[in-house]
Amino acid sequence: MEINRRKFFASVGGASAVALMTQDQKANALEHFAESELEAAIAGREEKKYPSVADLKERYADLNRPVRRGAGGLFVPRDGKLRELPQMPEKPTLLDFYEHRFAPANHVLQSATRALKTGMKEEIILACLLHDVVLSTIRPDHGWWGAQLVEPYVPEITSFAIRYHQTLRFFVDEEYGYTEYPESYYRFFGEDYVPEPYLQRTYKMLRNHEWYEYPRLVTVNDLYAFDPDAVVSMDPFVDIIGRHFKQPEEGLGWDNSPSSHMWRTIMMPDRPL
Ligand SMILES: [Fe+2]
Ligand SMILES: [Fe+2]
Repeated sequence: MEINRRKFFASVGGASAVALMTQDQKANALEHFAESELEAAIAGREEKKYPSVADLKERYADLNRPVRRGAGGLFVPRDGKLRELPQMPEKPTLLDFYEHRFAPANHVLQSATRALKTGMKEEIILACLLHDVVLSTIRPDHGWWGAQLVEPYVPEITSFAIRYHQTLRFFVDEEYGYTEYPESYYRFFGEDYVPEPYLQRTYKMLRNHEWYEYPRLVTVNDLYAFDPDAVVSMDPFVDIIGRHFKQPEEGLGWDNSPSSHMWRTIMMPDRPL
């Protein structure tokens, strides 16, 4: 997608406002701008007009599309613009991945910040911090992919929470204050979409699971409202990561765990094979 420079500058208060921004703030603002432009484009010209399941099916039947919808952001950036990928250190840590591959990672940082401020337990804060990072690689069933990516390194309730937040996003729960079906899902899945049987079955299993609360708490913090003024930083989470993320000595990708290959793919997304 082409970024309209003038429109972008206007959206953040003009060129002088942009001049005062740090590189990070610019990247964040640009990401936000690109996302809302893209969503507006997807939603069509009339605002609040959502596609139907049939509309989306037709859209996805278009074989002239360059890529399928589920490609992750590292492979197909949401704003259509590839960014330079810095060389990873020899023994990369989780923080290196945030800095060099997941950045700016606003959505997960905002989720984790909310979890921290509302006093949730550290395993859940960590789940919030990690819950969508796999979207850099792949989008369909990102709960399952995302849990698998971190499973060898995090407490079991953290990976459980990540795996199943995806399912619980489709089902409201007043008791936890998760009262609204996400508005963006009408655009993503269609206004008449009903979660597929595998999600219904997973939901039913979770409702009776003693750990239901953990993925539910991730959905409670999983807000798409992007606040460009929110100052988010990794600093408050460094100690939490240190306490609960088992950083492999060899570096992520090189420790021969069941998900090392996934970290290597994120590290080297241009490898042809
Ligand atoms: Fe998610
Ligand atoms: Fe999310």
